[in-house]
Amino acid sequence: MRVTLSVIKADIGSVGGHIKPSEKLLSRVREFVEEEGRKKGLIEDFYIFHTGDDVAILMSHKRGVANPDVHKLAWDAFRAGTEVAKSQGLYGAGQDLLKDAFSGNIRGMGPAVAEMEFEERPNEPFLFFAADKTEPGAFNLPLYLAFADPMYCSGLILSPSMANGFKFTIMDVNYTEGDRVIELNAPEELYDIAALLRDNERFVVEKIHSRRTGEIAVAASTTRLHNIAGKYVGKDDPVMLVRVQGDFPATGEVLSAFSIGHYVAGFMRGSHNGPLMPVKLNSTISFFDGPPIISCAAFCVHEGKLTEPVDCFDHPFWDYIRMRVSEKALELRRQGFSGPAMLHYSELEYGGIVEKMKKLEERFKVRG
Ligand code: 13P
Ligand code: 13P
Ligand code: MG
Ligand code: MG
Repeated sequence: MRVTLSVIKADIGSVGGHIKPSEKLLSRVREFVEEEGRKKGLIEDFYIFHTGDDVAILMSHKRGVANPDVHKLAWDAFRAGTEVAKSQGLYGAGQDLLKDAFSGNIRGMGPAVAEMEFEERPNEPFLFFAADKTEPGAFNLPLYLAFADPMYCSGLILSPSMANGFKFTIMDVNYTEGDRVIELNAPEELYDIAALLRDNERFVVEKIHSRRTGEIAVAASTTRLHNIAGKYVGKDDPVMLVRVQGDFPATGEVLSAFSIGHYVAGFMRGSHNGPLMPVKLNSTISFFDGPPIISCAAFCVHEGKLTEPVDCFDHPFWDYIRMRVSEKALELRRQGFSGPAMLHYSELEYGGIVEKMKKLEERFKVRG
């Protein structure tokens, strides 16, 4: 059967700062999706996760991508959760719900969306990733390494079904008039892909397809909140879906690049660089409102029904990685606001620093 996987996530309020949604909020969102979505037959199955302060609704259904009813379900569930957030005095209640009225598609309204529709394979494993305290470009390097670099994805050498490589669809997220995208093929256009993906702020992997079958492998969210709000309202905190095995990389090949703990934008006030730490599902946030975190749940889906999730970063190996990433975080934090520890002014200009710079500009004098 043809199945659609949709992940829609939003920060709608959290306990004790930008840490974690309350249990009551999570229950309300779960109950809403169960009553209004699954019981009414709108969706087949769903799971609710939180990663730091973000709530993600993973849904399987038969309605295709960008389905207005499925999007509205998520929007209304987040609104219901926001009511709980307000009633409990949670911090940032409704933070990511940037528009008042639902207009048919949740994209551009604040919540992040990643969706894919495909014909189910007889066995259909996939991974659901959710990050907090970072931006969509945080997925650029891991996706490049998993889908285009045999140093990380041995299947590119060992598996004939991946020998033709993958097609990357990359979005220019600075362009706000519409979706400005480019399609590039790995391995032939590897250097072009790298030239774009080095710039995490502007160019973001939106989709990846198998070139042998044309099948979709990856769908990632591309929302830059400051482009919608025109000011800093919180970091984008992206989500993505990755199909694995068979014509796609093995689960472990996709996970392997996350062992780097590469530096990404985000962290405190969304204004710093910090290493991306792979964490267990439903983890919280701590040091310097971070570090930026990534969680991953593995599933199989069959006739639209999801198995229980397996927590991919809950393994002794990743304890060691978390120690190393902590060291990387501390090392950069030691230099506070200086140089690469804090983001470039162009990324900060959506925040309060603009006022300060204006005042200081007036006080500059050019010496004769
Ligand atoms: P199994 O032999 O355990 O199925 O593993 C095969 C494989 O390709 C692992 O990446
Ligand atoms: P979130 O984007 O996760 O809400 O974090 C915002 C922030 O400013 C943390 O310091
Ligand atoms: Mg928040
Ligand atoms: Mg967040």
